[in-house]
Amino acid sequence: MNGTGTQAPAIIGTLAPAASDLGTDTEPCFDAARIDAESIGELERIGSDKWTRHPGCIGAFIAEMDYGLAPCVAEAIGQAVARGALGYIPDPWKREVARSCAAWQLRYGWNVNPACIRPVPDVLEAFEVFLREIVRPGNGIVVPTPAYMPFLSVPRLYGVDVIEVPMLRDDAADGGWAFDFDAIERAFAAGCRAFVLCNPHNPIGKVLTRDEMLRLSDLAARHDVRVFSDEIHAPFVYRGRTHVPFASIDERTAMQAFTSTSASKSFNIPGTKCAQVILTNPDDLAMWMRDAEWSEHQTATIGAIATTAAYDHGGAWFDGVLAYIERNIALVNERMRTDLAKVGYVEPQGTYIAWLDFSPLGLDDPAGYFLEKARVALTDGRECGRVGAGCVRMNFAMPYPLLAECLDRMTAALRADGLI
Ligand SMILES: Cc1ncc(COP(=O)(O)O)c(C=O)c1O
Repeated sequence: MNGTGTQAPAIIGTLAPAASDLGTDTEPCFDAARIDAESIGELERIGSDKWTRHPGCIGAFIAEMDYGLAPCVAEAIGQAVARGALGYIPDPWKREVARSCAAWQLRYGWNVNPACIRPVPDVLEAFEVFLREIVRPGNGIVVPTPAYMPFLSVPRLYGVDVIEVPMLRDDAADGGWAFDFDAIERAFAAGCRAFVLCNPHNPIGKVLTRDEMLRLSDLAARHDVRVFSDEIHAPFVYRGRTHVPFASIDERTAMQAFTSTSASKSFNIPGTKCAQVILTNPDDLAMWMRDAEWSEHQTATIGAIATTAAYDHGGAWFDGVLAYIERNIALVNERMRTDLAKVGYVEPQGTYIAWLDFSPLGLDDPAGYFLEKARVALTDGRECGRVGAGCVRMNFAMPYPLLAECLDRMTAALRADGLI
């Protein structure tokens, strides 16, 4: 394998912007007032998928934030463009991604060796390698539902069966949702050899506890099951909770886990194509270096540069994002308690996504309804699994005033139809 030492090579040291040019972790640089002032027209002009796919609608479907770039990331990208550093990804930048990602994991108390971190264009490419090389065609994978949509569609492309196991709504459970461990064990006993752990869970916003993950790990050990641990939303946990990386719990979870994460959600840089796999099982690392080099090679240099700047210098900006999102969650909570009290909703513990159940109002296709009647674009819950009929997935990481308008429009549509 190519070395992944912790020392920055000379090319990085001389060409990358110095920390002093980028701001530091102690410098508050998230401008909430500027975000509050952002209009629909300005967001459409920026041109994201979220704001152009359904012209004239409020975009609340795809998981992107409307909060722009951290100054340190914008600066690093600008400097990379100015010096023409847009070639294929070189080893020094791969090592920088590994080093900075490992340093970011310390936020979760995980002192992971950068030598087991490799770049990959995105988390789904890591998932595809997991399906192709570890799960293999003819086998099955358990996906707790509702789920991030590609977890249900991508396995089939690799001849892998998807076993949907609905999460249980339980007010007594941490986060209002619980794994159905009996159903999970039945699927494992029936021969299923893999599990998708999405923590924090998109779309229900649950942040898993150590105990829940240990119980899953017990079952996985009993049935020789591997766990794809998607931790892309790890930075988004609220109210003093902390994210626990599955692989960090103990030796056994480290061997079971195939972890993937990215700065793409937290720094809004998914288009720069640089996620990471954290391969704590040495056999996986050997497999990766033998069979996944092509995936790694597709990682974008600009993404490696943006990611390294984000992890190294974006902490304070990101803390501002978190505070802003917590204010948005308070608004959603308030509306769900009042105008929209009939809608099924559990306050998310993590992510910037809410799962809204409109079946008590008799709506079969709430996404279609709100697109037409409220000009609000949401994700159809049915894309998140069979349990999603009557539900939508809503991304609330938008400017606070637009979130208020979005909820106003939805409420007005329902009122006009006498549904609330
Ligand atoms: C849970 C989850 N995993 C993976 C992804 C894919 O992210 P990326 O393409 O930035 O790797 C997303 C994006 O919405 C997500 O929500």
